Amino acid sequence: MQDTIGTIQNLLLEAYRRAREESSSEPEPELTHEVQWPIACTVGPGLEGAIASETKVGYVNGARGWLIYRGYNIFDLCSYCTYEEVAYLLLHDRLPNAEELSRFKKKLARYRLVTKTLRLLMGFPVEEMNAMGALRLGTNLMRQEFTILDQEEGRRGPCNAIGSDEDSIPMETKPRGEEHAIYEFMSGVKKAEPVVNGQLAEACGIDACYHLIAGVSTITAAVARLRRGHVPIEPDPELGHAANFLYMMTGRRPSPVEERIMDIALILHADHGMNASTFAAMVVASTLSDIYFSVGAGIAALNGPLHGGANEQVMKVLKQIGASENVPAWVDKTLAGGGKIAGFGHRVYKAYDPRARILGPLAAMLADNRPELQPMFETAGKLEQEVAGRLGEQKKIFPNVDFYSGLVYSSLGIEPEMFTPIFAVSRVAGWTARVHEYLQHNRIFRPRAMYTGSFNKEVIPIDKRS
Ligand code: ACO
Repeated sequence: MQDTIGTIQNLLLEAYRRAREESSSEPEPELTHEVQWPIACTVGPGLEGAIASETKVGYVNGARGWLIYRGYNIFDLCSYCTYEEVAYLLLHDRLPNAEELSRFKKKLARYRLVTKTLRLLMGFPVEEMNAMGALRLGTNLMRQEFTILDQEEGRRGPCNAIGSDEDSIPMETKPRGEEHAIYEFMSGVKKAEPVVNGQLAEACGIDACYHLIAGVSTITAAVARLRRGHVPIEPDPELGHAANFLYMMTGRRPSPVEERIMDIALILHADHGMNASTFAAMVVASTLSDIYFSVGAGIAALNGPLHGGANEQVMKVLKQIGASENVPAWVDKTLAGGGKIAGFGHRVYKAYDPRARILGPLAAMLADNRPELQPMFETAGKLEQEVAGRLGEQKKIFPNVDFYSGLVYSSLGIEPEMFTPIFAVSRVAGWTARVHEYLQHNRIFRPRAMYTGSFNKEVIPIDKRS
């Protein structure tokens, strides 16, 4: 057992060595300086390239293949930390000392017990639902556990309601870059304020972040069990976050190796710049909605096959290809048809994804010990070789995090429908950290769309329309 843990450590250090060898680790000040608003930047469709905020949470350098959380590179964090330490780091801007970590773990242990949420969730046909749909519903129900916002007396009063003509303010103007929001809440408050017994403040504060980090793992595990026709099981207060998650899903205490692998997978997915789900969570938070709704929006965005849903697709593709010798013909056919291959390419990385650098060798190690996974791993290896060989140099298309994560999860006995929910179990740390940071200087998100429609059309009465 100790040998395998040692092998994993060596594998992480080797991945880091190769990353350093292939790219410079010198900071690029032109990409990481403070912003003087308003800022001029080149923006592509889908807001590509737009700078919408400053952050100290994390940094992705796509050209060099770096992923950094609060100044620490992902290789070191995977080598020396647990997910709890990394979640604390993302939220608090420093790695916890022993006492802080112990306090944090105690809180997570308490918040993992989302009994009322699970009772409510089991009133729905979870086994018939899409797993991400069930998780999203679960986080919404969790909100009831912690806040009274949905009860009559907890509703917001006029003090921080949005002006009724809020969306009629002409926004199709050049942003002036004021320090203060163009949209003002009537009270002028920028942060949510306590409404009843401090409940609203709690629903947007650090404890709600902890509650979500803990609770999303319990709900995901419960959803996995309910889908298999099993009842959810309570967390084990003796276990850490990764081990607890596996235990709540399977009912079996994981081995130290399984725990270590899950810890690494959770760390690798915890934050990743202003990606679609993080942006969705931040957009919702910027309206001063609460963090439960924000995380719900993140989960909804993560569900798509262009984002978190890709690793499930990768497993389907590997099954469809069947064997490594079929790979070249399959790639020919797919590319000729203009198709995109799941698990390859990235909006930001135009170099090797550092997360795939870790997950690839980890999947190889696991496949070595699981002969039944070997053929699928060989097919994956051949697919990487073919796709990177054809598109790597030319279009900067390399495997992304999703390419090997499915194989890693499969080796832990996890079914593909749960891959994307597991992504959420991890990413909730990044979502909450970024939302929490953004709310300190909140400004409602409001980009523009260029109107290209017509003007001065006349309404023809319905009986005269062709
Ligand atoms: N397979 C084949 N060709 C690809 C792929 C791919 N996976 N990805 C991009 N390309 C090609 C495109 O066809 C395009 O070629 P062209 O210039 O000849 O038209 C070129 O590379 C650029 O592609 P874009 O679509 O502009 O790249 P974009 O940055 O918009 O897309 C995305 C990134 C959505 C991730 C894309 O690579 C993709 O669809 N990949 C497959 C899905 C996937 O794995 N998603 C997970 C991403 S990681 C995550 O979200 C955690």
